[in-house]
Amino acid sequence: MHPKVAIAGKGGTGKTTMAGTLARLFAQRGHEVWAIDADSNPNLASTLGLSEDAQAALRPMPRTILEETTDAEGKRKLDLRIPARDIVVQYGTESPDRVRLLLMGQVDHAGSG
Ligand SMILES: Nc1ncnc2c1ncn2[C@@H]1O[C@H](COP(=O)(O)OP(=O)(O)OP(=O)(O)O)[C@@H](O)[C@H]1O
Ligand SMILES: [Mg+2]
Repeated sequence: MHPKVAIAGKGGTGKTTMAGTLARLFAQRGHEVWAIDADSNPNLASTLGLSEDAQAALRPMPRTILEETTDAEGKRKLDLRIPARDIVVQYGTESPDRVRLLLMGQVDHAGSG
């Protein structure tokens, strides 16, 4: 496979629809697919075919999966506290085509500019 990725800015050009459709197609062909929605207004779930009730029940991954450390030079570093597969099992929601959907955390509040 020779994947090509196109990226376009915010504003309804079909990125989510395309990503969701590809995820479903790969899953229907038997691949294990993890889909992560990092949009603060997530709508990948509807593209993946989750019911409205299932969408309403979605919760973002908690920040506690991350551990922040500081290296010898004082640089901050974030690591996963538990293996990625465990995160998918614990916090993923399965879509009708068996894509496992995860939501990134959302912005708590706006910072100063
Ligand atoms: N090929 C297409 N033809 C017609 N409508 C489409 C097509 N692809 C997407 N749409 C519709 O356009 C709208 C925006 O699509 P989508 O949410 O996928 O865009 P996006 O690039 O993810 O937007 P955003 O930048 O806001 O996240 C949706 O209502 C979607 O159903
Ligand atoms: Mg989108």
